Amino acid sequence: MRALTIILAFASALLFIAACTHQGANVEPAVVRSYSFEETPPELVGYRDKAKGAFQSVGNRLIPRLTTALSEGGPVEAVKVCREVAQPLTDEAGREVGFAVGRTSHKLRNPANAPRDWIKQLVADSAGKKGAEVKPMLFDLGDRVGVASPIVAVEMCVQCHGTDEQLKPEVSQILAKQYPDDKARGFAPGDLRGWFWAELPK
Ligand code: HEC
Repeated sequence: MRALTIILAFASALLFIAACTHQGANVEPAVVRSYSFEETPPELVGYRDKAKGAFQSVGNRLIPRLTTALSEGGPVEAVKVCREVAQPLTDEAGREVGFAVGRTSHKLRNPANAPRDWIKQLVADSAGKKGAEVKPMLFDLGDRVGVASPIVAVEMCVQCHGTDEQLKPEVSQILAKQYPDDKARGFAPGDLRGWFWAELPK
């Protein structure tokens, strides 16, 4: 009998731990409601506009660095720039505005850009679409607001995100070395490449 009590106590402790672990692992906020930018309720407009500003500032930092590296050093040099500056520049933009900002995609090059829970559905539903077929979205996450804005491929991107035939052999080589699980290939101009996202506390 005593043994049974101990076993039962142990089992319920395990259940408790399992429940806690489950909750702990699920700390990312869930979507309460989503809106297109035009439908944004008045009390969330401020968050939407702050996020738009942050996305612009990430783009304004990345694109000139990328185009300069491409014209001065060629695509292999530019891959290094992308690898070394894309993450820090994005994080820096986030620190300046005081909320988390990032880039994600259904076809990732860097696994560090994996989508957060609340944007996973949007990323999955929009996979393989053209930029013109999707719209920026706003997510009410309870105590936070999530904002997502499409990133569309243009001609320049094809040098590093196009088909294997379009990538120069030396670019393919360096990508294979630095991103062994690279999925960010096969994009054409006009394709949806991914999403800027921001997560703002209310
Ligand atoms: C010189 C090569 C190069 C060019 C040109 C380039 N990229 Fe990338 N891109 C990269 C590399 C390398 C990464 C991974 C960066 C990292 O490690 O964070 C990346 C990552 C990304 C990501 C983050 C998601 C992911 O897959 O990790 C997006 C979004 C992206 N690129 C979009 C674009 C767009 C849009 C263009 C054209 C305007 C473009 N890239 C042009 C090399 C390039």
